[in-house]
Amino acid sequence: MLIGIDLGTSACKVIAVSATGEVVAKALRDYPVHTTRPGWAEQDPADWWTAADQALAAVTAELPEGGREVAGIGLCGQMHGLTALDAAGVPLRRAILWNDQRAAPQCEWITERAGGLDELLRMTRNRMLPGFTGGKIVWFREHEPENFARTRRILNPKDYLRFRLTGDYATDVSDASGTGLFDVAHRRWSDELLGLLDIDRALLPDVVESVEATGTVLPELAARWHIPANTPVFGGGGDAVIQTTAMGLLDAGPVGFTIGTAGIVAGGASQCPGNPGGRVQISCGNEPGRWHVMGVSLSAGGAFQWLRDALAPATAADPVTLERLSKLARDIGPGSEGLLFLPYLLGERSPHVAPAASASWVGLTPMHHLGHLARSVMEGVVLNMREILEVCLQAGLPCDRVVASGGATKESLWLQILADVLDRETVTVTGVAEGGAYGAALAAGVGVGWWADLAEAVGLLAVDQTFTPDPAAVTTYDEIFGRHRRLYEGLRPLFP
Ligand code: XUL
Repeated sequence: MLIGIDLGTSACKVIAVSATGEVVAKALRDYPVHTTRPGWAEQDPADWWTAADQALAAVTAELPEGGREVAGIGLCGQMHGLTALDAAGVPLRRAILWNDQRAAPQCEWITERAGGLDELLRMTRNRMLPGFTGGKIVWFREHEPENFARTRRILNPKDYLRFRLTGDYATDVSDASGTGLFDVAHRRWSDELLGLLDIDRALLPDVVESVEATGTVLPELAARWHIPANTPVFGGGGDAVIQTTAMGLLDAGPVGFTIGTAGIVAGGASQCPGNPGGRVQISCGNEPGRWHVMGVSLSAGGAFQWLRDALAPATAADPVTLERLSKLARDIGPGSEGLLFLPYLLGERSPHVAPAASASWVGLTPMHHLGHLARSVMEGVVLNMREILEVCLQAGLPCDRVVASGGATKESLWLQILADVLDRETVTVTGVAEGGAYGAALAAGVGVGWWADLAEAVGLLAVDQTFTPDPAAVTTYDEIFGRHRRLYEGLRPLFP
């Protein structure tokens, strides 16, 4: 049995996966996000550990042999967060999360120190986005110098769990990529950038490939969960990267479209691509010698949830559910009768680096009702993801097929809109419901030798559903796509 742990933003999910790729047990424990100021998002590392401990205990208790059959553990989690530990390994403050925007000025400073965007891209392949760890480290040093002086290690969230599990300070190449301090092309810390920023390399953990072991579970924990002594813990990966692996996308060709709260367009590459203008995120892939290209839109399924919560408030007698909104949207034709929606509710990261952008509808008339609003939100989200795909194509990522995942894929209308807007066959594959946790378990399986490599491991995945483009809808969306792009350009001067 393999254990996959996903330290998400809302909960920690633990799954157990068999040698045939079946998910045989799972448990979820949640924890809060603390937002003490606008744009801030923090979590308590102690909450992560409590949740992981409880979920692991629940999963191992459910296994037929208790935990005795556990061969290895793979970790994945929310990327880019900063967890600062003192010399005894105790967190010095709450962790600052990926969606925390406070470090935008520090990112500008970093880009300047690096000698400009092109130099930064040469050293790391990535723009220093406000979400990334690098800017947070500089913010921490500037604003909390006493805590910073006591800091001995800085870890990403899942690697704090690793430390609690094994006592080791380590990360994997995909999560390290999301710090913005990693030389992604050469799969090592960028000593050049660290030097320019005066960040001590010793603060950062050692880096392994996703399928490599970083240590073994501490004896008292192994005893508590009834798993074998010396159970190995493997590198694993950042969630957005390893969930692409869990969709089977290791090599160029198919592109993954994940519609969760955020929207992720991502694929694999066998060479490290360039990143002109820094418009995509490039990470090391989970397979050694592979890379990962992605563009992340901050509002995808989240925009649809917002519509439900803000514009269609539920009453006990008349609940407005996502399913009901989807049903209303299904009665409207492609193009929402002229209504366009731009989904930048939280600003945007890709296709435009536009933290100050906001969302809008254009084309409203008295004829439009809730169904049009719902359909236009879905279409606006997917049109925005088509723009991200174009940016990825420019970065050298081909797309011959679309593999969809994320909570929204439970609704077939989202999948048909994807096929029509992208004019490409769109499929879902088995196992994707578990997301990154599944990828982490597969990485552990390769590590323990169950499969020769991740390519063999993802051979377990099978196509579940297939959606083919409807030619009439494709023509409609091609025309609308042009208007969608011009709309952003037109509104851009209005954003602060
Ligand atoms: C990826 C990203 C998110 C977080 C949280 O760049 O910011 O996917 O990893 O899930």
